[in-house]
Amino acid sequence: MSVSIDASRCIQCHRCVAVCICNVFQPGSGVPVVMDERRKNCMHCGHCAAVCPSQAITLDGRSSGDLLPIPASRLDDEARAALFTARRSIRLYKPEPIERTLLEKALRLASYAPTARNAREVHWTILNGREKLLPVLEQAAEALACSTDSRYQKILSRVRQGEDVILRGAPCLIVAHAAPWRWAEADCSAAISYMELALHSFGVGTCWSGMVINAARLKPLSALQLPEGHVMYAGLMAGMPAIDYTRIPYREPAGVTWI
Ligand SMILES: Cc1cc2nc3c(=O)[nH]c(=O)nc-3n(C[C@H](O)[C@H](O)[C@H](O)COP(=O)(O)O)c2cc1C
Repeated sequence: MSVSIDASRCIQCHRCVAVCICNVFQPGSGVPVVMDERRKNCMHCGHCAAVCPSQAITLDGRSSGDLLPIPASRLDDEARAALFTARRSIRLYKPEPIERTLLEKALRLASYAPTARNAREVHWTILNGREKLLPVLEQAAEALACSTDSRYQKILSRVRQGEDVILRGAPCLIVAHAAPWRWAEADCSAAISYMELALHSFGVGTCWSGMVINAARLKPLSALQLPEGHVMYAGLMAGMPAIDYTRIPYREPAGVTWI
């Protein structure tokens, strides 16, 4: 890890010291000192450089002055509602694949999802084009047929009769996967939630593909072509919505205990 502080720019505000949870900087007065023996603890979260008001920090070769500034405007109430409450789980899709540039933009946004210890070990596999999803559909239906869950028993015959009760006719499947470790599922779930909101903001419909996740738990789905040792922890079917919703369904506020 390489972090350096340009003493000629540093205003000695010590914000970098305050935000670093890895204690890479020596507490005290004056220009903060990077403790050599703590460098290995750095999780490369970039907070030190992002919080520096005088662009004095260079982390991993990137100067804080080159980082994007925080946008001045926050979401207004309408934009916030459009983002959070108008998102729906879409199960009726237009057949065309999703424009690749939209997927790339959404992936870029999803890379800002939090990850435990800033591990950033979420990987993506995107099958874009209905014909690429058909082998997944067949394998998932076969895997679910092995389940003891009675709800899954009839799925294989329904799929073979042409009823896509698993992927809902979606033209795209987005899989978040990782090598197993303590926080892999949490990291993939957070990333897919960012992805879902990002795609919604571009007008792309999505729906969590819990049935594919369950199927992959029962039997490896070779059609997903995941790297050796990786597990599918989260996934979305996606596509342009075939119909529009006009209203927001009512949601009871979640239970909360105030202490
Ligand atoms: C972990 C998880 C798994 C889900 N799996 C499926 C699924 O396999 N098929 C499906 O049609 N919807 C699935 N959903 C979507 C939920 O049914 C949906 O979020 C819920 O009914 C609320 O609707 P809304 O998302 O439009 O608010 C899943 C959602 C989550 C969070």
